[in-house]
Amino acid sequence: QMAHLIRRRVPVGDWPPEWFHVEDNIRRRDVLLGSSLQPGEALAAALARGPSGLLAEIERSGLRGRGGAGFGSDIKWRSCRDAWGDAHYVVCNADEGEPGTFKDRVLLSSYFDLVVDGMCIAGMAIGANQGLIYLRGEYRFLLEKLETRLEQRREAGLLGRNILGKGFSFDIDIHVGAGAYICGEESALIESLEGKPGKPRIRPPFPVTHGYLGQPTTVNNVETLALASLIAVQGGEWFRAIGTPASTGTKLLSVSGDVERPGIYEYPFGVTIAEILADCGARDTQAVTSAGAAGHCLAADEFGRHIAFEDVATGGSIMVFDQRRDIFDVAQNFAQFFAHESCGFCTPCRVGTAVNVRLLNKLANDHGSPYDLDEMQRMYRLMQGASHCGLGNTATIALQDMLHKFRPAFERRLHSPEYEPAFDLDAALS
Ligand code: NAI
Ligand code: SF4
Repeated sequence: QMAHLIRRRVPVGDWPPEWFHVEDNIRRRDVLLGSSLQPGEALAAALARGPSGLLAEIERSGLRGRGGAGFGSDIKWRSCRDAWGDAHYVVCNADEGEPGTFKDRVLLSSYFDLVVDGMCIAGMAIGANQGLIYLRGEYRFLLEKLETRLEQRREAGLLGRNILGKGFSFDIDIHVGAGAYICGEESALIESLEGKPGKPRIRPPFPVTHGYLGQPTTVNNVETLALASLIAVQGGEWFRAIGTPASTGTKLLSVSGDVERPGIYEYPFGVTIAEILADCGARDTQAVTSAGAAGHCLAADEFGRHIAFEDVATGGSIMVFDQRRDIFDVAQNFAQFFAHESCGFCTPCRVGTAVNVRLLNKLANDHGSPYDLDEMQRMYRLMQGASHCGLGNTATIALQDMLHKFRPAFERRLHSPEYEPAFDLDAALS
């Protein structure tokens, strides 16, 4: 998506090969990236603490989900542990599909033992013996390497029966997705794991009580699980001392777009957008999308804002657009992405995403009117209120921001500036 997006307006010739080798361009902050923990070290520390001691450390740390929503990990794990079921499961959501996000890929390829330790730790905490990694279809190239590593851990007594001789058994299977963005939504992911089409379930009930095969399941992002490993070793207080009071620890950011040094960056929560832009060598920045295509689009007067759940929440995707970019093109690209990825289950999202594409195409083809801009705002309200899952709820956030903050990019394409609405949809809907 990103390659298409950037290439769209300003041809940059051949795509620079370093963009596909982000591991070489990792900016370390020595918390998660650069961790020197040995395989199994975190797991041994967690087993020594025991389930209650470990959960107390996770609570003390303030760890919140790194997929983007920031739900308290201790609450999730405790709810799952306390839920009744024949079996409990740990699911690692490695269906990293947000445009511009590639941090989990780096964790899987370079810090996989931290992730596996984190899954084992979660299993110990909630009383699970089985873990499942849902690997993004486009990351299939990692599968052999990951399977080999799991096998090596089994041979070393770090996975499987009676881990480290402590009487705790836990094993992990890897399932590969088929390239659908919606399968990153946890309940669609679980449906897919069960062999069904990836359609989101109604939540609640949440997976912590009714998850994989209807059993209590904790679904965690790759980064969350890796961080749990660090907390098991270094303790909750150490983690809480990093970041802000409401957003503790660090956040991995995938930074891409019009920057000199794209790559993975690790920052304590609270870092400003301006600091990130300075670090990655961004110049003449016009806009930054804070959570890929599904989050807010920030204009230059907002670059003093902070990456934190209480300010700019993000799953880790920072896309930078400089003054050469036409924001209208970005909006059109995002809209096409969501129309393509909508699973089609519910009408507001299935139709709303398609209507947005048509309206933007109309504007692009010089047939638009101000009515079309208003119509996109109505679509936003309708989709936010009535969509069945997060995809529909977030599909128009960036588009709305762009309409408000970069209005001239849209108005430039208006065919008829004089406009009288013939039908007041707002009144009809209210
Ligand atoms: P959510 O807020 O509904 O849930 C977050 C997590 O908390 C889920 O695991 C859910 O099961 C759990 N949870 C929420 N309420 C609970 C309760 N009362 N009891 C127990 N557990 C509870 O958010 P959602 O829809 O799961 O995720 C949306 C986020 O995903 C957005 O922030 C979006 O930006 C992000 N996202 C990330 C992508 C990526 O590639 N990393 C791709 C697309 C979206
Ligand atoms: Fe499917 Fe979109 Fe409805 Fe989610 S909001 S269930 S992706 S159609």
